[in-house]
Amino acid sequence: MRDPLSKKIVQVQPSGIRKFFDVAAEMDDVISLGVGEPDFDTPWRIREEGIFSLERGRTFYTSNAGLQELRDEICKYLERKIHVSYDPKKETMVTVGGSEAIDVALRCMLDPGDEVLIPQPSYVSYLPCTVMADGVPVIVELKHENEFKLTVEDLESKISERTKILVMPFPNNPTGSIMTKEDLEPIAEFVKTHDLYVLSDEIYSELSYKGEHVSIASLPGMRDRTIVINGFSKGFAMTGWRLGYCCGPEVILKQMIKLHQFAIMCAPTNSQYAAVEGLRSCEDEVAEMRKSYNQRRRFLMHEFARMGLECFEPFGAFYVFPSIREFGMSSEEFAERLLMEEKVAVVPGTAFGACGEGFLRISYAYSLEDLKVALGRLGHFIERLRNER
Ligand SMILES: Cc1ncc(COP(=O)(O)O)c(C=O)c1O
Repeated sequence: MRDPLSKKIVQVQPSGIRKFFDVAAEMDDVISLGVGEPDFDTPWRIREEGIFSLERGRTFYTSNAGLQELRDEICKYLERKIHVSYDPKKETMVTVGGSEAIDVALRCMLDPGDEVLIPQPSYVSYLPCTVMADGVPVIVELKHENEFKLTVEDLESKISERTKILVMPFPNNPTGSIMTKEDLEPIAEFVKTHDLYVLSDEIYSELSYKGEHVSIASLPGMRDRTIVINGFSKGFAMTGWRLGYCCGPEVILKQMIKLHQFAIMCAPTNSQYAAVEGLRSCEDEVAEMRKSYNQRRRFLMHEFARMGLECFEPFGAFYVFPSIREFGMSSEEFAERLLMEEKVAVVPGTAFGACGEGFLRISYAYSLEDLKVALGRLGHFIERLRNER
């Protein structure tokens, strides 16, 4: 029989995040700080609206781009939060998570050979989605000494005639790094000078612990060069509802809606009704969750300082990214030993790109109780390693 597979998909590596959790799932008494999803239940009002929409028999397709009511609320929300206006009819699409928006945007914007600048460490889907869209991923290494922020210097040596898109993955998974307005300004100038487009993944925008999240789309001249991707998974604790959205210039959104129509039809209907309620009335619940994450973040930073574990202070998402370079082993080896010897599961930094070597991603989307136990075990482990030397 002939090979049933495309060469493209075969060359794509599976995500390095899951691998560890399959092992951890088989063990007893493991505390996982590995998963990147909120430990909170979806706010009750949202769940109630989801149930209510089912009771009322709202079980049909919505329009391809999403419920108009939801698109209206999304645009009001973005106007409020990032101060950018979008047309809810022509510049907004509701998607199956931020994940679908990333995939569809790349597939609609790339021709074969077009290059995509992907800062790493970063979320695992940008690279495979670029490859599957016939684009060429060009990795831009974010540096620890810059607190994993993106700088123009990082970009300068990576630009070419074929560069078309810059991915902006902030607030960042896995580092927790954020970009302030001052950090974004030179990047925006670079983008305009080189006539690039930006795919701005702002899925963690609600989880910023140092002032308001700033979108690159809000900078002068950037709105029409940027696709803003966001969703309900992280800020509204709605991962399983599979709901995200994207906004951008009509010329791009029109094509994205066409592809989404053929590939997906529409995002889940009852999730869309529920999300309308989320945007209208759950600001307090979201703020409460943010407060709780911030408390945990500060606890972790305090504990790392006590253990003498090097970690820059991250102000976004729900991850910290400590350095384990002093122990002279790879991230994978460290994470594996931590799991086997202390039953704590974390993700090696290399799961997010080769430049994550020497770091671990620790998620604080877990209760303080669990974090305390896990950090106690991590403390023992580190002490033992230091004594071994
Ligand atoms: C940076 C980033 N972008 C996008 C996603 C996808 O989220 P979803 O498809 O649930 O909206 C994730 C999920 O972990 C993420 O960390």
